[in-house]
Amino acid sequence: MNENIEQAYKDIELCIYHFIYGGECEFLVRNNIELIENLISGLNTSIDEKGVEKVFNSAVAQKWDQKAEYVTYYGVKNPITEEVMYQASNGLKIADIGCGTGKILQKLDNKFLDCNLTGLDISSDMISVAQARNFTGRNNITLVNNDFMEYDFKDYYDIIIFSYVLHHMDNPIEALKKAKDMLTERGKILFSVPRKAYLSEVFCDDKAIGRFSIEEMDNIVMSAGLYPLKASRNRFMMSFNSYEMFLKYLQSIGTYQKIMGYTNQSWSKEFSAEILKKFDSTSFITGEYLTYNCENLQRKLRRK
Ligand SMILES: C[S@@+](CC[C@H](N)C(=O)[O-])C[C@H]1O[C@@H](n2cnc3c(N)ncnc32)[C@H](O)[C@@H]1O
Repeated sequence: MNENIEQAYKDIELCIYHFIYGGECEFLVRNNIELIENLISGLNTSIDEKGVEKVFNSAVAQKWDQKAEYVTYYGVKNPITEEVMYQASNGLKIADIGCGTGKILQKLDNKFLDCNLTGLDISSDMISVAQARNFTGRNNITLVNNDFMEYDFKDYYDIIIFSYVLHHMDNPIEALKKAKDMLTERGKILFSVPRKAYLSEVFCDDKAIGRFSIEEMDNIVMSAGLYPLKASRNRFMMSFNSYEMFLKYLQSIGTYQKIMGYTNQSWSKEFSAEILKKFDSTSFITGEYLTYNCENLQRKLRRK
C-alpha cells in the first residue's frame, strides 16, 4: 500500500484516465491494490446497503453506548431493560433481536448463569461492537449479523426481546408473528417502541417516523396473535446543558437519517436551524415508550 495517500489517489486518477483513454496502468494498480479494493467496497456498500444500516452505521455504532453522556434523564429511561432483567432467570434461552451493541446481552450475562443468549442485528457495525464486549463465559453467547426476517432460527426461546427495534422494521406485525413462532410453550416477547410523544417538542408527528399510539400498538399485538400480559406507557424527561449536546445526542441515535427516510444524507444547516428554534423554546424534551410483555394468544387460550 502506498504510504502517501495523496499520491495513491493521483495514481488511481491516472489509472482511470488510462482506462478511459487507453494506456499502461498495471504497475500503478499493483502499488495501490488495497486502496483500490477499499474504494470499490466503499462504493458497493453505499449502493447496496439496506436503509436501516444507513442509520446504524459505524459512526452511530461507535457512539451508541455513550449517548447518555449528552443528556440528563428524569424518570425510568429504559423500561424494557428493567422488564427483561425482571423476567429472566438462570438457564433460559433468550434472543435479543436488533441487539445493537449488545448492552442487554451483557447485563444478562453479568447477572445469570447457563443461559443461551442469542443476539442478532442487521447492522454489521452494531454487531461488531457487540462482538468486542467482554462476556463472562458463564453463558453461551451467539451473535449473528442478519436481517431478522431473513434468518432461519433453529431454536425456540423463553424470552425474545425487541428493544427499540420494531419501529425500524418494514412490517412489525410479520416480525412479531415470526417471533411468536419461535417461542417455547410459556415463552414471552418483550418489546419497547417510542410512543407518539417521543421528542415531540422538536419533531412533529409527520416528521418523526416510527412512533406508535397505544391503539396502533394494541392492534399490531392483536394482529400478530399475541396476548399482552403487561403493557405500560413510560414517560421520562430529558434536559440538555447546551444545544450542542442536544445535537450530539440526536446524531448519536441516527435521528436525522431516520427522519430523512433511512437515507445517507448528511446533517443539513437548515435542519439544525429548525431544531435550534424549537430547542430554544423548551426546557425539557419528552421521552416516551410503550413497553409490552406478550405471549402467544392461542397457547394462553388452550391452557385455560
Ligand atoms: C434503536 S437500535 C436498538 C439497539 C438495541 N436493541 C438497544 O436497545 O440498545 C435498533 C437496532 O435494530 C436493528 N435492526 C433494525 N431492523 C432490523 C432487522 N430487520 N433485523 C435485525 N436487526 C434490525 C438496527 O440495526 C439497530 O441496531
